[in-house]
Amino acid sequence: MKVNKIKGTLDFYQYDAKKYRYLQRIASGVAESFGFREMITPIFEATEVFVRSVGEGSDIVNKEMYTFIDRGERSITLRPEGTAPVTRAFVENKLYAIPGIHKFYYFGPMFRYERPQAGRLRQFTQFGVEAFGGEHPNLDADLINLNYQILQAIGIKNIKVLINTIGSGKARENYVEALKLHFEPHLSTLCEDCKQRYQKNPLRMLDCKVDCHSPIMQSAPLVSNYLPEEDLKYFQDVMSALNFFGIPFEKSDRLVRGLDYYTNTVFEIVYDDPNSPLNNLALSAGGRYNSLTRDFDGPDYPAIGFAMGIERLMMVMDELDITVSETKDDTITVITLGEKMKKQGLLLTQYLRLKGKRVEIDYQSHNLKPQFKLADRTGSRYIIIIGLDEFENNQIRIKDSWEKTEILIPVPELTAFFGIEGEKYAYQK
Ligand code: HAM
Repeated sequence: MKVNKIKGTLDFYQYDAKKYRYLQRIASGVAESFGFREMITPIFEATEVFVRSVGEGSDIVNKEMYTFIDRGERSITLRPEGTAPVTRAFVENKLYAIPGIHKFYYFGPMFRYERPQAGRLRQFTQFGVEAFGGEHPNLDADLINLNYQILQAIGIKNIKVLINTIGSGKARENYVEALKLHFEPHLSTLCEDCKQRYQKNPLRMLDCKVDCHSPIMQSAPLVSNYLPEEDLKYFQDVMSALNFFGIPFEKSDRLVRGLDYYTNTVFEIVYDDPNSPLNNLALSAGGRYNSLTRDFDGPDYPAIGFAMGIERLMMVMDELDITVSETKDDTITVITLGEKMKKQGLLLTQYLRLKGKRVEIDYQSHNLKPQFKLADRTGSRYIIIIGLDEFENNQIRIKDSWEKTEILIPVPELTAFFGIEGEKYAYQK
């Protein structure tokens, strides 16, 4: 029976695997330079972790989680996102005991039972960051700056940064009430999802992809009219800070985000090229979540973060022809002539590998042709040839396929040739 991968999952190999790790490296590197350190949490958590945080009103909790009962009768969920696990770990490990801002980044697979399509997967990868402690417009702006700089470092320039503030507490409750009043008489004209959202989380009706063009959606009240002066001032200051960082952005009144934990600043970065099928694809998203630590029974600790979709970034890299430079590494292929020399070849291979060189050897062929083919396939720069003559004369033949040169040197000179320190190599006779 042929077994295929699960719908909505991907295999990465060869160049794609390289691209995937390249994005991890670039994003981690930029985040480290902003003072973030890695946090690694389990891929599964108690279901409660996500129900409490992402929220019962969210699509993720309602219909997208991979949840199962384990053999100990516990409800377990494969993480659909990284903010809730990192917050759970932050509180559980009492990391808040040390004062100051705690900045973490993470990279890994997330799972959502979504309808798969281009850029929407059931297993996908996020690079995310979360900063706990500190509530200042400069921090919000610097986090968006970090997200922006990662995309710049990758070479993705055509992007749109959308930002909004959705308030919190009483002001948000009042706004939600106003939305309900607005939508109630028109519910029958809206989609089934919106009818449900009306019950569970009316805010989410605003980013409905089905009803977004309906006049009733267009005339919905705006959150900014319900926020207290201090929230509006905070948001204004975030925008001023973005200006001085030189980050172009658009204020988007209807950006609300699909997870319940957000408070105040929210943002999304989308791909921006009207001529591309990827136009408006969300590459990254995040925002402030000032009460999540309390939802995990921790102390009050305001926080902010974002996560970017790695597979989506890979799609954009392809679209823009951004390549990961194939660093011309100095791979060596060891070629041996005749059956007796194979052992010498294997020993030399072992020596070079333990000295940190990337070395290939054909385990079985004694003829030149298949061995040269291996050197070719692996893009080897150096080809070392050991025949009986070389062995008996204590010499070694090295071809440099880039420089198109060939030399025959005494074996003890091998170390100097490859810049190897420590003990010299000798044939085992
Ligand atoms: P999110 O908007 O659900 O936010 O996801 C963030 C990013 O993950 C999206 O912009 C997208 O690039 C990628 N993504 C999401 N779902 C999929 C999917 N099914 N297939 C491929 N890529 C996908 C969060 O997850 C929040 N935890 C972000 C955050 C961190 N907020 C604060 N801190």
